[in-house]
Amino acid sequence: MDADELVFFVNGKKIIEKNADPETTLLQYLRKILRLPGTKLGCGEGGCGACTVMISKYDQERDKICHYASNACLVPICSLHGLAVTTVEGIGSTKTRLHPVQEIIAKSHGTQCGFCTPGMVMSMYTLLRNKPKPTEEEVENIFQGNLCRCTGYRPILEGFKTFSKDEPCCMGSKCCKIQPSNEEHFLDAAEPCDFLPADTTQEPIFPPELKISNGFGTKFLTFKSERVTWLRPVFLKDLLKLKSKYPSARIVIGNTAVGLDTKYRKAHVQVMIAATHVPELHEVAVADTGIHIGGAVTLARLGEILTETIKNTTEGGQRNAFLDNTFYTRRGNWNIKSDEIVLSVFIPFSKKNEFVFGYKKAQRRENATAIVNAGMRVLFEDGDNIIKEMQIAFGSMSETSSLAITTARRCVGRKWEDQLTSDVVQWLAEDFHSLPEGIGGQMPYKRALACSFFFKFFHRVKLELRKQSGMEDATVPPRHTLTLPSLTRSISRGTQVFEEVSPDQPKHDAVGRPLQHRASLQHATGEAQYCDDMPLIDGELHLALVTSTRAHAKILSIDTREALALPGVEAFFGHEDVPGSNVKRVLTVGEEIFASKEVTCYGQVIGAMVADTKTHAQRAAKAVKIEYEDLPTVFTIEEAIVEESYYPHEAKALIKSGDVERGFEQADHILEGEIKGGGQEHFYLETHVARAVPRGEDGEIEIFCSTQSPSKSQANVARALGLPMNRVCIRTKRLGGGFGGKETRSTLCSVMSCHHVAYAVLHRLNRPVRGMLDRDEDMLISGGRHPFLGKYKVGIDSVGRFKALDATVYLNAGNTSDLSPEVVSVSLYSFDNCYHIPNIVLTGVLCKTNLPSNTAFRGFGAPQSMLVMENIIEDVAVSLNIPSHKVREINMYNENDLTPKGIRLINCAIDRCWNEVIQQSEFFQRKEDIAKFNRDNRWKKRGVSLIPTKFLISYYNERFLEQGAALVHVYQEDGSVLITHGGVEMGQGLHTKMIQVASRALQLPVHKFHINETTTSTVPNTTATAASTGSDLNGMAVLNACKTLRHRLEPYIAGNPGGSWEDWVKAAYMDRISLSATGYYKVPDTWDDSYVPVEGEQTTQRYFTYGAACSVVEIDCLTGDHVVLRTDIVMDVGRSLNPAIDIGQIEGAFAQGYGLFTIEQLRYSSEGRLITNGPNTYKIPGYGNIPVEFNVSLLKGASNPKAVYSSKGIGEPPFFLASSVFFAIKDAISSARAESGLKGRFRLDSPATAERIRMACEDQFTCQCSPSTHHTRPRFIDV
Ligand SMILES: Cc1cc2nc3c(=O)[nH]c(=O)nc-3n(C[C@H](O)[C@H](O)[C@H](O)COP(=O)(O)OP(=O)(O)OC[C@H]3O[C@@H](n4cnc5c(N)ncnc54)[C@H](O)[C@@H]3O)c2cc1C
Ligand code: FES
Ligand code: FES
Repeated sequence: MDADELVFFVNGKKIIEKNADPETTLLQYLRKILRLPGTKLGCGEGGCGACTVMISKYDQERDKICHYASNACLVPICSLHGLAVTTVEGIGSTKTRLHPVQEIIAKSHGTQCGFCTPGMVMSMYTLLRNKPKPTEEEVENIFQGNLCRCTGYRPILEGFKTFSKDEPCCMGSKCCKIQPSNEEHFLDAAEPCDFLPADTTQEPIFPPELKISNGFGTKFLTFKSERVTWLRPVFLKDLLKLKSKYPSARIVIGNTAVGLDTKYRKAHVQVMIAATHVPELHEVAVADTGIHIGGAVTLARLGEILTETIKNTTEGGQRNAFLDNTFYTRRGNWNIKSDEIVLSVFIPFSKKNEFVFGYKKAQRRENATAIVNAGMRVLFEDGDNIIKEMQIAFGSMSETSSLAITTARRCVGRKWEDQLTSDVVQWLAEDFHSLPEGIGGQMPYKRALACSFFFKFFHRVKLELRKQSGMEDATVPPRHTLTLPSLTRSISRGTQVFEEVSPDQPKHDAVGRPLQHRASLQHATGEAQYCDDMPLIDGELHLALVTSTRAHAKILSIDTREALALPGVEAFFGHEDVPGSNVKRVLTVGEEIFASKEVTCYGQVIGAMVADTKTHAQRAAKAVKIEYEDLPTVFTIEEAIVEESYYPHEAKALIKSGDVERGFEQADHILEGEIKGGGQEHFYLETHVARAVPRGEDGEIEIFCSTQSPSKSQANVARALGLPMNRVCIRTKRLGGGFGGKETRSTLCSVMSCHHVAYAVLHRLNRPVRGMLDRDEDMLISGGRHPFLGKYKVGIDSVGRFKALDATVYLNAGNTSDLSPEVVSVSLYSFDNCYHIPNIVLTGVLCKTNLPSNTAFRGFGAPQSMLVMENIIEDVAVSLNIPSHKVREINMYNENDLTPKGIRLINCAIDRCWNEVIQQSEFFQRKEDIAKFNRDNRWKKRGVSLIPTKFLISYYNERFLEQGAALVHVYQEDGSVLITHGGVEMGQGLHTKMIQVASRALQLPVHKFHINETTTSTVPNTTATAASTGSDLNGMAVLNACKTLRHRLEPYIAGNPGGSWEDWVKAAYMDRISLSATGYYKVPDTWDDSYVPVEGEQTTQRYFTYGAACSVVEIDCLTGDHVVLRTDIVMDVGRSLNPAIDIGQIEGAFAQGYGLFTIEQLRYSSEGRLITNGPNTYKIPGYGNIPVEFNVSLLKGASNPKAVYSSKGIGEPPFFLASSVFFAIKDAISSARAESGLKGRFRLDSPATAERIRMACEDQFTCQCSPSTHHTRPRFIDV
């Protein structure tokens, strides 16, 4: 069998591939072969949308060109024969013409790190190609497969919704949407008249050759590689013959299942049969009784067909197999023989007296597999409500889809009346008992869900019966509004309000203006370069990690012989190959780069394979054989407490203030409680990546890598290589998100990568090497936010005022201490949040476990402890029957108060933020409305919560880190300015803000400035970009460098006051004045030399950022689903350097915090292996999770004398405000519990998942399904 040529088009260019490899995906081909790196790799499993491209094909039958948004990471190139691919590079560019989609996302502030942006652009572009004027709803829905970890989605949606507008507004800032005010400005997502209009005639045309020639789709094709053969028949008889000839071959249609099997489950499929071009599999036939859908009809097409069919229907050698319990009998076993295929699926029309409804509950609204789904059907006797036939089917209750056969049989002959629901619940419980446990555990919840679905079905059918019988009152009583299948959300909306700069501010001065992110157009066009986008250079090698498959074990042997013999493999590196030190340092503690004798977590790095391609390196890494001897493990905080497994010298951090014992004596009430919270994965869209290039002499090596801490990476690489630091240069242009995960773990990852790389380069292979972790590897090894357990005892007086608090926070630190001592310290000094507690003792304990080491993550331990604090408030409120906002107010800090750590609150804006958010959210009115809603609804409840926050901007225990440096060059020929500083751009807009600072300092417009990268060669000894200090430290350094330059230029300005910048620069140069200046800044040790502190008071120049939020939620008590109806935030950011960027940080932090407190749940197997290792199993918030109404205001008239141009650090402070959703959910659950007569305190751990919400809303269904009545073994460890 000779292989065919593969022919397809990319961005209008014809590609002929003579050696098409069936295992190569379109994404690999675009990025590495065609060198089109605009399309990004975020996950490789179809779950993030970063790789979205448009695929177009000519449908001969319909004479129509069809466009689809596709995930290039799952598209085999062999499936593209005769198709046209359009990538982000193909629709517009900064060098030629931008496409309006690209321009709008950039100008609407819809990009931060920009890694998701090309995917967003291509999803929107495809929608526009199919429908030039989509509705707002269509715009919101199109992004169901696209994730963004930075923005909070609001600006992207608002920007793109301008394509739905009837008449684009051309009034710009005079638009009536913008309230006339001298002081206030509303951040308008997009003013459409600013953009080039979308012009469909300018779009790249579909290649005429593909339309004219009929040959592409009608020929049998064969593609072959060493390992796999791809066969594409075009006749049904050939397909059947091939299936008989190759019984173990996999049929491929969309490859979304086969692709995952081969990539992640390491299935080696030798023969793939693409059945996409067999006409019979695309047939759709409408018969009298139903509709036959061909086996290869896509879901999108099926949707169209069904809609069309319903519209047109006025009433309602092959074998047939029923899709019932006999079809899918056990995992991987269908009722299809090896020589059979599914030709079509028959969907019968419903008949008179027949009702069919479907239900689904997933972890996230969009793009998530069901926790349980259900299909229910009932047929009644004619003219009666007696059940004639009944079917109840569930997905995910068991290993396969399952039918409640006994229950359904028992229903026959029964009347459709209320008693039926309680009987069915009883019967279902019996049916479920006989089923094997489903994937994912959660059985009590699943059973409660299944019963709840039936309850919903019952009421829905009851309503239909009433309607049919012509009863006038065809509505369900309002308290039982069960007819809605699920919570609905309307189109999202919101406002963003900030203070405008004074009209007197000079035009060139960009400080305070909402400039778009400096690289936003590059993000939107795919031109922004990330580390792995750098072209491969001759001889470049690839690296893959060999990681532990045991949580705690001795390494007995490592056998690499088989792996080294695989094609393309160059070398293996382990601990013995490290020329310098195998220990990398995090601040003061060290940890091994490569495990030498023992592994202490699943995923720990043992070695690395280097090969000619990434695929070869990964195959070789998997082929390394390691023998272990297992040792005892500790995974959970509870286990660590029992085993006293703590980090010894940092085990206990302590804060003590006042006299706690006396405080408890004075208290009227003493309460005790506990709350637990799960960890969180950073889920930056760009995984860890590093690339090392040898410089060829003196051991010099240049390393491009994704690190938040270039200097730390430099030190660790140098130490590992045994080189002086001056030979190692770290270069970082930008990161596709960091959030703390690329601070020290990056050092680890980059050392892992860089070090092997460097070693390979320098000592053995002398060739460049790169390594980029796959999503599952990154999640497995890099750690995340610390899971926590908070225990407390609190004393209060009769009105809820704090008298004393004794609390302990346990953090699950994982297998190394990393930054955990610092994290627990921040956790403790943030514990008080906004409340004055006169007598307090706080203890922090770091648990040493066999999980991958946890590390820095936005908030750095503060969100965990502040959640404990707010939970205490809630407990006090419930116990004393006082509204929780009153308890907060009575204990709230005032100006000049001292925190337990001795920091004085000066310019304290808590009360201003609090009062303004009460006003903005109409809190009291909202509370009344919610009370009424809850009275009127039994199965849906609403809740509201007001949460304040304060966040200290500092490197508390590491004063030496509170320094920044910059280097500013002015070029004499044209006066352009190049800024370099110690901060890393990772989406937070740092470079944009630095340019704004420089624009004021040098009195120049922003276009004169450029920042090209962060590198240890220009600015050494940098502090990691972290702790929300990037703008403060580097901004002051840039300002100081600019001041020096300005000072040097002053004589030339004075000598030629009418001259231009260029004139002055030239004159200075001719006079031999240096046009290059360094700037340095350290946070002063005291903010006022004359101030005399009280005992224990700190005097350093540190400050707090404040804010407050109000959230309203609605929960579905039967499923545990929730929707955030509205969030209002007021945030004190001082005088914002850039309000658009600051609002972006607030919205993005809120979205990430929302994920932590509601839907993000890490799960480990009982062996300590992370199971939730990609977007298909770990759900970060999507478009459907953002508040339906989201209003953000920056506090007016705020200032901050302690930071650059009166601004404030903003990256982390808003994060905790998302807990307002958590407590609003808890509020709603309280109302649901009250319906069952349950009053008083109850425990809700974080995250408030659907499972926890449902099971906390105790009712007749949860009682039947509690763990005590259905014993199930736990599938996951609750760490
Ligand atoms: C991001 C993402 C989200 C997902 N979400 C969901 C979800 O919410 N719910 C859900 O159920 N699934 C989900 N899946 C899984 C997947 O999409 C489904 O299994 C899908 O139905 C596979 O269709 P495909 O055409 O892409 O399959 P392919 O990978 O091409 O094939 C799937 C399997 O079916 C076999 N097959 C294909 N056609 C025939 C035929 N005519 N006769 C016999 N066998 C055939 C193939 O050999 C293969 O074993 C998701 C997958 C991804 C990547
Ligand atoms: S969906 Fe393809 S990279 Fe994530
Ligand atoms: S901007 Fe979307 S992931 Fe960073």
